[in-house]
Amino acid sequence: MEQTPVLELNNIHKAFNNVPVLDNVSLKLNPGEVLGLIGENGAGKSTLIKIICGAYEFDQGEMLVDGHHVDFRNPEQSRRLGISTIYQELSLFPSLTVAQNIFIAREFERVPVSGLVTPIDNRKMESEARRILHETLGTDINVNMPLERLTLAEKQLVEIARALYYKAQIIIMDEPTTALEAREKERLFTVIRDLKKLGTSIIFVSHYLFEVLDICDRVYVLRDGKCVLDSPSHAASVDTLIQAMIGKSLERQYPKERLEIGEKIFEVKNLSREKAFQDVSFELHRREILGIVGLAGCGKTELIRALYGIDPPEEGEVHIRGRKVTIRDIKDAIEHKMAFLPADRKTEGIFDIKNVGWNMLIASLNLITRNTHISARQESRLAVAYIDKLKIKTQSSGQVISSLSGGNQQKVLLARWLLTGPEILLLEDPTRGIDVNVKTEVYKLITEFVKEGRGVIMVSSDEEEVVGICDRVIVMRNGQVSADVQAAETNVEQIKYYSEKSGEQQ
Ligand SMILES: Nc1ncnc2c1ncn2[C@@H]1O[C@H](COP(=O)(O)OP(=O)(O)OP(=O)(O)O)[C@@H](O)[C@H]1O
Ligand SMILES: [Mg+2]
Repeated sequence: MEQTPVLELNNIHKAFNNVPVLDNVSLKLNPGEVLGLIGENGAGKSTLIKIICGAYEFDQGEMLVDGHHVDFRNPEQSRRLGISTIYQELSLFPSLTVAQNIFIAREFERVPVSGLVTPIDNRKMESEARRILHETLGTDINVNMPLERLTLAEKQLVEIARALYYKAQIIIMDEPTTALEAREKERLFTVIRDLKKLGTSIIFVSHYLFEVLDICDRVYVLRDGKCVLDSPSHAASVDTLIQAMIGKSLERQYPKERLEIGEKIFEVKNLSREKAFQDVSFELHRREILGIVGLAGCGKTELIRALYGIDPPEEGEVHIRGRKVTIRDIKDAIEHKMAFLPADRKTEGIFDIKNVGWNMLIASLNLITRNTHISARQESRLAVAYIDKLKIKTQSSGQVISSLSGGNQQKVLLARWLLTGPEILLLEDPTRGIDVNVKTEVYKLITEFVKEGRGVIMVSSDEEEVVGICDRVIVMRNGQVSADVQAAETNVEQIKYYSEKSGEQQ
């Protein structure tokens, strides 16, 4: 006998401003099944998820949970039926503590004997938060820390902990691994496998196709809002998924061009900051892409922020184009022709109520100012050029950025920093949330950028990307450089080895 799906969608339609985003989407999710939902940036994945969890209403179609029709008006209603969601754009509160974030809006759920609803006490909240973060997810995040002091990866783990805390029958994960390191990802996959054994169903969205095939039982591909493939994972391959997603195969994910490396443009000597990193030295040359990798907590995030003057180093020297300089703040960094794309686009990147063109050009007003006026024509010309180059899915440069899909917002920010024309570009996970097709375009743009004699320093949590696109790789471990190697002479396994054990410097 066929089992009743925990979730069933039939012929769902959804449009925004008369533009269809989901077109006749039908889907079944069985108990204990892990379903991979994939598709290009803007294909409609997050929209579908927001419909399932009640954040958006659908225009036509029907939705059933456990065989019963539902018509959610808000996420609270879906949560009551056991649907728990990890959102792509984290939905956390910066000034509250980690524990408070995990329990937000749920503090009043314990009903004491008196029948009066009272909040769960702080100590219980903290111990429960610790249990799930430390024991289940294997992190050592301090639960009393205000959320804003956490790294993006840690915030992502808090968001995951929040969804896992309540025993849900369906857990939806919209790109839960974009900021996670290999070890944290593996931990999450163990949690997913355990949940599956308990009969929990999971919808898992990711642009890492190997990861999807590894963890999911079935894959469901959306293209322009339509289902183009629904197949058991064992019958699919990365190539068939790419073919379904973009309608063609990808020749090369990493279009690496080996350029002639030029003179030294940037150098740091014995840089140290508190406990974050110590005695870091390296060089960057013209036409070089330098990757910095390492496990969570290795100091790479703190290092790149120090280079840009956000949290400056306490000791050591920085030389730019052969001259010793001091970078005390962002202003100094900009004066030295540096630019920085931070990983956390939501809090450090987008101006969410502004449009695409504004967000793209805000850091290079000099390019669009004529006399003392901003030239709308020039702004739109440049914006349109980059919308085209990066295949940004937007109705026009006038669309509000927060209504773009996550990956498309990331592309706007990348364009912003490329447009500033820096000599030294610092990137933190530049392809975070960008689909496989456009990733290749981003790598080409970065290559074009260094070809003109500039340099790029790229921190990444994706070792494969670093080996594929960089010229040199620095591996950090416990705040120190554990290896400095030529990308052509290394591989992902070796990088993992240096991340975990101390290697030799070359
Ligand atoms: N609130 C909204 N208003 C207008 N358009 C929207 C809104 N939300 C989403 N869209 C549009 O719907 C389309 C699908 O977006 P969605 O966020 O579902 O894509 P996605 O598949 O999750 O992409 P990504 O991989 O980049 O996260 C996009 O073109 C987006 O601009
Ligand atoms: Mg999305």
